[in-house]
Amino acid sequence: MRRSIEVLLAPPWPTEAIRGAHVAVFDVLRATSTIAAALANGAAGVIPVGEPDEARALGERLGRDRVLLCGERNVTKLAGFDLGNSPAEMNAAAVTGKTIVMTTTNGTRAIRAAATAPAASVRTGALLNRSAVARALAREDGPIVIVCSGEKGAFALEDVLGAGALVDALLRVLDEAELHDGARAAALLYRAVADRLVDALASVDHALEMTAKGAVADLARCAVVDTLDVVPTLREGVLTAG
Ligand code: MLT
Repeated sequence: MRRSIEVLLAPPWPTEAIRGAHVAVFDVLRATSTIAAALANGAAGVIPVGEPDEARALGERLGRDRVLLCGERNVTKLAGFDLGNSPAEMNAAAVTGKTIVMTTTNGTRAIRAAATAPAASVRTGALLNRSAVARALAREDGPIVIVCSGEKGAFALEDVLGAGALVDALLRVLDEAELHDGARAAALLYRAVADRLVDALASVDHALEMTAKGAVADLARCAVVDTLDVVPTLREGVLTAG
């Protein structure tokens, strides 16, 4: 079956473009890279929430012994939270068996927007796990829409590169695909820098803020392709390893 593939390059994401589609949300720097690392390292699930107070209240309700509060605003870890938003923090010793309640500046909002559209299914993707996500999407029927989280309501190049990497992988696993313009543009951009992704991520606008706030090492961590096999999949508000 010929699969339609579109990339929503930046917010706002039209609800009608998402409704009924199989969606992969990308926030390469750093939310969806962090989610992939958390689930690959044994977290029981990741619950994306909108606001820090909502995360704190949910943490109390679920029981602070089984929950890690994780997230940032403007790259900085939130007051009273257990972890920030770095893939490096999501090691097995910290996250195994824990439910992570997460709120970030852009990524968790995009995931929630996809869920409420509603999409037919919602997964999250990053460079780290794009081939695993491609294989999972290939097993579904129906249109594929890749949502770029962007940065504070605007275009963010790193998410479009991640989306292009997924389009590239989808073209290898699907029998037939119909690419729309956003998907074509994302794939072209990705292919232009695929052999120097660390430099490409280090040059984006968000890298400046990450560097200024002590998160520069995450640029290289998030620029690695296909090292994780995990497919974060949203079910009843919780992302688990699909
Ligand atoms: C976000 O969701 O906006 C990001 O992941 C920000 C970051 O922590 O770099």
